[in-house]
Amino acid sequence: MKRFAVIGDPIKHSMSPYMHNDLFQHYQIDARYDRVHIEKGMLETGLELLKKDGLAGFNVTVPHKTDILPFLDELDPLCKEIGAVNTVVNEKEKWIGYNTDGAGYLAGILKVMPELKDKKTLMIGAGGAARAIYFTLAHHGVETIDIVNRTKVRAEQLKAACPYPVQTAILSAEAAEQQLGEYDLIIQTTSIGMSPEIDDSPLDVTNIKENALISDIIYNPLEPKILQEGKSRGAIVQNGIEMFVYQGALAFEKWLGLMPDTDRMRKNVRKQLGGN
Ligand code: ATR
Repeated sequence: MKRFAVIGDPIKHSMSPYMHNDLFQHYQIDARYDRVHIEKGMLETGLELLKKDGLAGFNVTVPHKTDILPFLDELDPLCKEIGAVNTVVNEKEKWIGYNTDGAGYLAGILKVMPELKDKKTLMIGAGGAARAIYFTLAHHGVETIDIVNRTKVRAEQLKAACPYPVQTAILSAEAAEQQLGEYDLIIQTTSIGMSPEIDDSPLDVTNIKENALISDIIYNPLEPKILQEGKSRGAIVQNGIEMFVYQGALAFEKWLGLMPDTDRMRKNVRKQLGGN
């Protein structure tokens, strides 16, 4: 039996095991996917145990996405640029690191906005998730991605670190709110609005353009406040289920050479989240 896992802290609420174990059953693959709790500071010891276990592959989540880099044998080029890993493949006892978060986000957004490159984009946030998305969209050829972040210097660092050409203005929240009507796509990458703080929103969307797309990487709640407010002003909204499903599908493909049925995965995740 092939064994897979997700490592992180906290880990007990991860939905990845439901998603992958269901796929193993569906495709009749003799494999199992478990949650492995590894605390910050215990990564090296935890990884030694995983190596002895002969895992075929694993996912990496908070707080290990960057800390794991020195323990891997090889890194995929985009993952190296992003500086964070969410998927590891065991290839003949070599651990190869990938990042499917950015590509997962891109796959989800292309479904609702297939012509992305000339769409004026605003990204809220400049943390780890923002970095994967920003680099991946710049790599895809998106021409303009402005950034608004509480800590301005982090946004400046993100802009400076990007190896792909992209035009970026760093904005204050006030400026972003005022000129919101210019944007076709607004990407929300912070944790603001996540359960249980469901009444919080990172930005006032009063000035949003009708038919603009707001995409939030949060999926709990299914409709964060910023999406509710955007929707009531005529925007199109997408929550974080798409990114979650596609990052998982792309990891599955790297491990097993098969792109799984994302409709099935989406239904499964919605069921776990109590949606329909
Ligand atoms: P992740 O890896 O999940 O992206 P992170 O690297 O800690 O997590 O980044 C979190 C993002 O959410 C950052 O953009 C952070 O803003 P700062 O760079 O100013 O810290 C943003 N964020 C989190 N909580 C916030 C809050 N209460 N108000 C404003 N921004 C917040």
